[in-house]
Amino acid sequence: MKSLAVVILGAAFGALAAIELPAGVPRSLAEFRQKHPYQLQARRPCRKIVKIRASANDTDDVADEFLQGLHDANYGGTLQLSKGQTFVIGKPLDLTFLDNVHVHLDGEIKFTNNTPYWQANAFRHPFQNSIMFWKWGGKDIKIFGEGVLNGNGQRWWNEFAGLEILDPTNAYLRPILFYAENATGLAIEGIHLKDSPCWTTFFVTSKDISLKDVACTAESNNATALPKNTDFFDSLNVEHVTVERAWVNIGDDCFSPKSNATDLYVNTMYCNGTHGQSMGSIGQYSGEKSFIRNVHIENMWMLNGQHGARLKSWAGQNVGYGFIDNVTFKNFWNANNEYSAFLDSCYFNINATTCAAFPSQVNITNVRFENFTGSTSGKYGRAVARLTCSPNAICENISFKNFDVTSPCGPAVIICDGIHGGIGTPCVNSTSPEATAALKAKCTASMATLPSATPW
Ligand SMILES: *[C@@H]1O[C@H](CO)[C@@H](O)[C@H](O)[C@H]1NC(C)=O
Ligand SMILES: *[C@@H]1O[C@H](CO)[C@@H](O)[C@H](O)[C@H]1NC(C)=O
Ligand SMILES: *[C@@H]1O[C@H](CO)[C@@H](O)[C@H](O)[C@H]1NC(C)=O
Ligand SMILES: *[C@@H]1O[C@H](CO)[C@@H](O)[C@H](O)[C@H]1NC(C)=O
Ligand SMILES: *[C@@H]1O[C@H](CO)[C@@H](O)[C@H](O)[C@H]1NC(C)=O
Ligand SMILES: *[C@@H]1O[C@H](CO)[C@@H](O)[C@H](O)[C@H]1NC(C)=O
Ligand SMILES: *[C@@H]1O[C@H](CO)[C@@H](O)[C@H](O)[C@H]1NC(C)=O
Ligand SMILES: *[C@@H]1O[C@H](CO)[C@@H](O)[C@H](O)[C@H]1NC(C)=O
Ligand SMILES: *[C@@H]1O[C@H](CO)[C@@H](O)[C@H](O)[C@H]1NC(C)=O
Ligand SMILES: *[C@@H]1O[C@H](CO)[C@@H](O)[C@H](O)[C@H]1NC(C)=O
Ligand SMILES: *[C@@H]1O[C@H](CO)[C@@H](O)[C@H](O)[C@H]1NC(C)=O
Repeated sequence: MKSLAVVILGAAFGALAAIELPAGVPRSLAEFRQKHPYQLQARRPCRKIVKIRASANDTDDVADEFLQGLHDANYGGTLQLSKGQTFVIGKPLDLTFLDNVHVHLDGEIKFTNNTPYWQANAFRHPFQNSIMFWKWGGKDIKIFGEGVLNGNGQRWWNEFAGLEILDPTNAYLRPILFYAENATGLAIEGIHLKDSPCWTTFFVTSKDISLKDVACTAESNNATALPKNTDFFDSLNVEHVTVERAWVNIGDDCFSPKSNATDLYVNTMYCNGTHGQSMGSIGQYSGEKSFIRNVHIENMWMLNGQHGARLKSWAGQNVGYGFIDNVTFKNFWNANNEYSAFLDSCYFNINATTCAAFPSQVNITNVRFENFTGSTSGKYGRAVARLTCSPNAICENISFKNFDVTSPCGPAVIICDGIHGGIGTPCVNSTSPEATAALKAKCTASMATLPSATPW
């Protein structure tokens, strides 16, 4: 196996500082697959195999055949979509009737990019005004193989360029690539989730969800229209979620459960260019309770993004309430992230005065950041982590242990405001002279560049 050591260059004090991606850490999708090969389990011979016709071209919609195939394979069978074949889906599919069905995807499922059609016909979910190509639901569903689920997002990103999803007047909605609701026992293994127009996955009111050995990428061929809001994982109302070994190169949150999540276990992810492993945002909607609890996330390789680990909850007028409790972020390696750890309970887009007048009503308790290493981008100078608890809100038992993230701009500083009882390691408040000096000491040109031979 070839050497995987790679040097990421960043400028510091006008000189070049080098961050070494440790040996054995994959730096491309191909190397990820080599290190974590997807092992197809021996097929249970008793399952009935169902096949459907493949598409002849990019407009040859086989949605009806796909639906029929799942009906035929339901109650114990496997829908087999073979390698080299493409299955084009051109209309919304309600797949919430599933019961003990497998989809063996070695080929490609690809959505049409007729943007006006989908905007008029896609399914809708009120949360952040979401739309979806299809809905999966039922029980004992497994989608596995070496194939691709392709959202064909380029046209969506081109047309969305310049807009913001959270802008209350935004009317250009983009579909979520994989959506499930009321699913119990849903496993996605091996496949490549590619080029989602908006969020890549969204799991609603579901439990026993697992994603293993998956790749998730959203890569634009248009420099003025980058993929936006292509989050790898979002959820509402879920219990028992496992993510193991995922390769993610997208723009926005990497793993981001939202309201009502219990018992989440995440181990081994590589996230490039993301907004981080984000708990929330929660507490957005007026009068609504929401919570995230019992989360363990470890062995994360976080590169070229906004944050390594983060927690966010809303403050301001007309927001909701709830809690984030018992979250462990462990073994996070950072390269060129703006902040390696970040807590913000004055989300979204409000200033300190407004946050003090309308504090967050989301309690954040029992959060551990442990064994954080690597280096930040220098965007916030020598500040490598920042915790902002809304005035009058509760942020308690937040602890840093073996936290050793450096800044390319000089001695690292952790900024914390409003955290009761400290964080077990020195931190300064944002108005202190130390924080002001650290934030000022920006160093520029610190964007990590990967060797051009590295495809991710
Ligand atoms: C695509 O394939 C379908 C089904 O074979 C065919 O009817 C249609 O003419 C083809 N369209 C193009 C543009 O080739
Ligand atoms: C949820 O799924 C179960 C079967 O898995 C079904 O019995 C129930 O009706 C579904 N509930 C809703 C609200 O769709
Ligand atoms: C790239 O995106 C921009 C911004 O939306 C758009 O105007 C342009 O047409 C796109 N370029 C191509 C080649 O599609
Ligand atoms: C990694 O993410 C950064 C930031 O989004 C992006 O500029 C870069 O192209 C990504 N790397 C690759 C090789 O895709
Ligand atoms: C979250 O759970 C609470 C009850 O604990 C419920 O009131 C609220 O509607 C749920 N939120 C969502 C988004 O389902
Ligand atoms: C905290 O969460 C972990 C799972 O990450 C769980 O094993 C543990 O029981 C939880 N602790 C409490 C007090 O609920
Ligand atoms: C937040 O903490 C306070 C003080 O412990 C408690 O009274 C309140 O019920 C908590 N709120 C939620 C939503 O858990
Ligand atoms: C700390 O995390 C790094 C990877 O980020 C890992 O290589 C190392 O083994 C961890 N240390 C401990 C003591 O677990
Ligand atoms: C904070 O935001 C509020 C609401 O947008 C605005 O009225 C106020 O002037 C701002 N205060 C400061 C200090 O910027
Ligand atoms: C603080 O949080 C940690 C989990 O991060 C937990 O193990 C510990 O029991 C908590 N301490 C208190 C005093 O609640
Ligand atoms: C912030 O820290 C400085 C000392 O560096 C202290 O004088 C000031 O009172 C602190 N402010 C708050 C709000 O705690």
